[in-house]
Amino acid sequence: MAVLIVFGLLLSLAMVCNGGITSTFVRKTESTVDMPYESDAFQIPPGHNAPQQVHITQGDQEGTAMIVSWITPDEPGSSVVLFWSDKHKTKKAEGKAKQYKYHDYTSGYIHHCTIRKLEHNTKYYYKIGIGQAERTFWFVTPPAVGPDAPYTFGLLGDLGQTFDSNKTLAHYESNPLKGQTVLCLGDLSYADNHPNHDQVKWDTFGRFIERSAAYQPWIHTAGNHEIDYAPEIGETKPFKPYKHRYTTPFKASGSTAPFWYSVKIASAHIIVLSSYSSYGKYTPQYKWLEQELPKVNRDETPWLIVLVHSPWYNSYNYHYMEGETMRVQFESWFVQHKVDVVFAGHVHAYERSERVSNIANNLENGKCSPVKDQSAPVYITIGDGGNIEGLATNMRDPQPDYSAYREASFGHAIFDIKNRTHAYYSWHRNDDGAAVKADSMWFFNRYHHPVDDSTSSQS
Ligand SMILES: *[C@@H]1O[C@H](CO)[C@@H](O)[C@H](O)[C@H]1NC(C)=O
Ligand SMILES: *[C@@H]1O[C@H](CO)[C@@H](O)[C@H](O)[C@H]1NC(C)=O
Ligand SMILES: [Fe+2]
Repeated sequence: MAVLIVFGLLLSLAMVCNGGITSTFVRKTESTVDMPYESDAFQIPPGHNAPQQVHITQGDQEGTAMIVSWITPDEPGSSVVLFWSDKHKTKKAEGKAKQYKYHDYTSGYIHHCTIRKLEHNTKYYYKIGIGQAERTFWFVTPPAVGPDAPYTFGLLGDLGQTFDSNKTLAHYESNPLKGQTVLCLGDLSYADNHPNHDQVKWDTFGRFIERSAAYQPWIHTAGNHEIDYAPEIGETKPFKPYKHRYTTPFKASGSTAPFWYSVKIASAHIIVLSSYSSYGKYTPQYKWLEQELPKVNRDETPWLIVLVHSPWYNSYNYHYMEGETMRVQFESWFVQHKVDVVFAGHVHAYERSERVSNIANNLENGKCSPVKDQSAPVYITIGDGGNIEGLATNMRDPQPDYSAYREASFGHAIFDIKNRTHAYYSWHRNDDGAAVKADSMWFFNRYHHPVDDSTSSQS
């Protein structure tokens, strides 16, 4: 018996040393069900033509502008935003409203209004629905861009609108680490899983996330469920609903489409890429990224973070290798420019990689496996928001060396930047209290402190 236990310990140690940990936590499998239309999470605000689905995102590169978006259901109403702070008198900005049609659905009046010249680190109040059912919200602007500005990002992916999605969002909201901006990895409403891509699901999703997205910016990444391409019902313009509802400040970073762009927030430079827009050589996204990476000034923004929907390193038997073509296209640039971390969604589970790269292959030398590389990013898959498609539980066996930790549970993560050298990362599964860290890692900045930070070397 004792021999068996010792042998078992050795075996499990060996498995850890080999590379990855496959968590022994097994979440009980239940189906994920959308919350019903009349659920409290989708409440329609009272009053005639009251603004609903309110959400904000950063409106420029530096964090002194915010795009405020909302929908009025019955008539256009006002596109004005009134905003003020304790120190600043009330100012007014005017946006625009438009509708879109999708099959037999016509949207409400979708308003987008950019408010500018905001002061950093300041709590602003804003009011919309002027002259009708007015609603007031608030947000806090990020600190000025600078190398030691601390900042806390929340990470959510593949959220959907099920009872589990609601738990994920509530868990994030109650996390004592207090995320200040959400980095959203794409796949929002899952409207396309319903007959005719039921666009009402986009509306309920907008009402669902309002309780967070009206008060802190969500930085959006386009996922496959945003494409809504449905020629069988005459809908052939990819991303139509998403593009109308979720704008991004893409022009501020010289991008020509809302699906790839960058923002600077505090000490982070965040690059958002689109897995579902072309990225081959000579394409707009390729050219933009080629020009964008050399512009990143690590003395100003030490932390270089990339968001993309489809992961490049994924050891689940779901969407396996779907990210390969993009990895082959861009991975050498990420290593050259020492990207700190790449966050992805798509796979409905959690996984963190070692720092690895796979860029030596030249079609002749046979070097086509990932190798440990301290100039490479850590790849994190966080598509575990809890959507209607359920969990991805089936993993590749044995766990490949590039995989450091993996677990099929719903949850969210926090990337907590302390200064130019250190950031604390943690993943929180819904089944625990919000303060419990199911997986964590101290990130050492690849530019200012490029010391080995793999969790196997830390332990
Ligand atoms: C969603 O979560 C919120 C916050 O925890 C809670 O108040 C609400 O009742 C939940 N709604 C549903 C339908 O689960
Ligand atoms: C950066 O933050 C880490 C972690 O909190 C801390 O140990 C380190 O001393 C800080 N560095 C500086 C220069 O303050
Ligand atoms: Fe996806």
